Amino acid sequence: MSANTFGIDLGTGNIKIYDRSADGVIVEKNMIAIKNKTDVFAYGNAAYDMYEKAPSNIKISYPLSGGVIADINHMETLVRMFITAQMRGQPKSVDVYVAIPHDVTEVERKAFRDLIQDSNVRAKEIRLVEKALADGLGMDIDVMNSQGVLIVDVGFDTTEISVLSLGGIVISKLMKIAGRQFDDTIRSTVRRELSLIIGEKTAENLRISLQDLYKENRDAVIYGRDIVTGLPVERQIQPSIITHSLTDDFDQILDMIKATLERTPPELAADIYKHGIYLTGGASQTKNLAQHISDGVSLNVNLAEMPIASVSMGLARIIRESAFRSLAYDIESSYR
Ligand SMILES: Nc1ncnc2c1ncn2[C@@H]1O[C@H](COP(=O)(O)OP(=O)(O)OP(=O)(O)O)[C@@H](O)[C@H]1O
Ligand SMILES: [Mg+2]
Repeated sequence: MSANTFGIDLGTGNIKIYDRSADGVIVEKNMIAIKNKTDVFAYGNAAYDMYEKAPSNIKISYPLSGGVIADINHMETLVRMFITAQMRGQPKSVDVYVAIPHDVTEVERKAFRDLIQDSNVRAKEIRLVEKALADGLGMDIDVMNSQGVLIVDVGFDTTEISVLSLGGIVISKLMKIAGRQFDDTIRSTVRRELSLIIGEKTAENLRISLQDLYKENRDAVIYGRDIVTGLPVERQIQPSIITHSLTDDFDQILDMIKATLERTPPELAADIYKHGIYLTGGASQTKNLAQHISDGVSLNVNLAEMPIASVSMGLARIIRESAFRSLAYDIESSYR
């Protein structure tokens, strides 16, 4: 028996780690700041705090892109640092459960396992879990017995649309439209409407604040650089302009949901129609997205209570409850 077990959801925006001994989940930005090409200057939330503000000798990046590992060395470093911080440096062996998207190649899948193996955390057992199944368990769906569950996870770089049945995945599609794309759209809109250049963080904060702006019926105040004068300025914009500009991105997600429903076997579709769509992932909270999806497919949409943590909460259940053990597999043994 290892000293501790961790369940890791390696999100492209946030890394979430369930720590069994503490029975809690930590959420940190999946980011690393490297100084002078080699030294780790900051990681996680601390690296994010410096993002778009650091001098040119400090490079801040996301090691994951489009749901897969783009920068193995830095991802290994991050995993080691987060786990060591949780273990308070104790050099004991650990068991690690990692959630992975379904719609990736065999090589990319194996890279997630190798990453943990090579990150020097003394991993004794490494088990992979399909991200959508963990998502379902994290939302308290009876994934083992349900016949037809549609889960849409709108994260940072990716949206994963999956149909589950009887503890397995029937269809799963990963698309590269999610929070990050919404923020890019907002930046272009602000540039076009106000001749203002804004950073990624400003765009993200603006998007997150839309719910409140609508509620309080007021305009957004944003800071950026005027395109013409090059000077920093403050401007106001109506939230409806921003919401409206996101329609094309929302439509792309909607189209993929429709395409998935069209491919779903009729017996499973019946259950989906009965229960509706399960919507999760941090960016699923973007103003109007749930409504847009619900209207577009004429289905009820169930919102996750903790959209950023649902995968890690599902991993926690797989780790704690023996009834779900079979959902975790070792990729090595499946190759034998
Ligand atoms: N209250 C909120 N309203 C809207 N968006 C939010 C809110 N809180 C967080 N987000 C967005 O959630 C996204 C991150 O969500 P999440 O942690 O689920 O993604 P991830 O797992 O890192 O990414 P992926 O699943 O694509 O790999 C960010 O784009 C962030 O802006
Ligand atoms: Mg995610």
